[in-house]
Amino acid sequence: MSLDHPSTPNDLSAFWMPFTANRQFKQAPRLLVAAQDMHYTSHDNRQILDGTAGLWCCNAGHCRPTIVEAIQKSAAELDYAPAFQMGHPAAFELANTLVGMAPEGFDHVFFTNSGSESVDTALKIALAYHRARGEGSRTRLIGREKGYHGVGFGGISVGGLVNNRRVFGTLLNGVDHMSHTYLGDANRWARGLPELGADLADELERIVALHGADTIAAVIVEPVAGSAGVILPPKGYLERLRAITRKHGILLIFDEVITGFGRLGTPFAADYFGVMPDLMTTAKGLTSGTVPMGAVFATGAVHDAFMTGPEHMIELFHGYTYSGSPIACAAGLATQALYKEEGLFDRCAAIAPYWEEALHSLKGTRHVIDIRNLGLIGAIELEPMPGEPTKRAFNAFLKAYEKGILIRTTGDIIAMSPPLIIEKSHIDQLVGTIKEVLDTLD
Ligand SMILES: Cc1ncc(COP(=O)(O)O)c(C=O)c1O
Repeated sequence: MSLDHPSTPNDLSAFWMPFTANRQFKQAPRLLVAAQDMHYTSHDNRQILDGTAGLWCCNAGHCRPTIVEAIQKSAAELDYAPAFQMGHPAAFELANTLVGMAPEGFDHVFFTNSGSESVDTALKIALAYHRARGEGSRTRLIGREKGYHGVGFGGISVGGLVNNRRVFGTLLNGVDHMSHTYLGDANRWARGLPELGADLADELERIVALHGADTIAAVIVEPVAGSAGVILPPKGYLERLRAITRKHGILLIFDEVITGFGRLGTPFAADYFGVMPDLMTTAKGLTSGTVPMGAVFATGAVHDAFMTGPEHMIELFHGYTYSGSPIACAAGLATQALYKEEGLFDRCAAIAPYWEEALHSLKGTRHVIDIRNLGLIGAIELEPMPGEPTKRAFNAFLKAYEKGILIRTTGDIIAMSPPLIIEKSHIDQLVGTIKEVLDTLD
């Protein structure tokens, strides 16, 4: 190990770690010091197979040379350019590349630095869009129970994971939530999309009847809910949501932060489901996790509603110092080129049936009460320990890490989303190790 990477830093206390059990971690740290393709290197010099693409983001695998070189080149050539009232070529080039691969109708891209910022940006665009069109009474935002839309105040207001909301005050006003689509026994062991529950979309009609369509700006959903433990949309559900939102003039926002950039074997979930929203939020796979970056995709109709008034006036009072920063754009361009060159979205679609088969082979394994999958996403739900929810899955995560695989847990669910370059042998290793872990776990 190089001296640049001391195997453990001498003091772990200063760094308040995000979404982490800080005290547990600091007693038994798990540090990653290098990465290549499908593997991390741990601080104790072990190879760890990445079953989660980092945090659902390193879709092209790790430290891919063309992305690394593009970042290095950009850092040496143009470190930063002001994002407001100024531009640089790579931002326009990346925006063009992105609209070129998005479903037809998405003609514009607004750059952010994360999924949370993409969500708050999309919500603000939705509110301002209606106002620009003279429908300023449309101020309500509708989310869904168990939804995860990042950690900004907008995102946690429309989000529906209780722990992410309850200690943070009253949040945004005028938000309502539809039911989640997790139906337990009714859809247990479904392979791919579950059969039952499309009618849950009709709840939106109830919410519209309660508040009046003319007060509702937008509905935001994850096409596939990731952070809640992989909850899939029942067959026909998203189509119904689209029909109802369209009927009432409500914008539909797909939060594609995890589904964007190939995770389902298509560029976006909108392509996979053949359902066209009005706005799409993305991040993560946009740069394969290398440089923080997000993007909100807007249709021409949404964008053009803002392009009125005197031409010297700013049309949307929103943006970030680092919106479309040169190094992020270089990373984004190299990432998109690599996805294309290696056909990684098609590769995901091609290996997804093997992934499904391998995951479902765990049916009957100790503690396993459900298995869900779509594209290169998988979830293994465990029976919680009596009186100690989340503990069994967390123990499984720790044991799996000891045995050389990185998985992620949320509640009592093991969630996986490997890089799209995964080979069958890696899938066998992931599933085999999980079985070993569960067989010996309390
Ligand atoms: C659907 C969804 N939206 C938003 C976010 C937030 O992204 P970030 O952590 O980059 O802010 C995430 C992160 O996992 C996500 O899964």
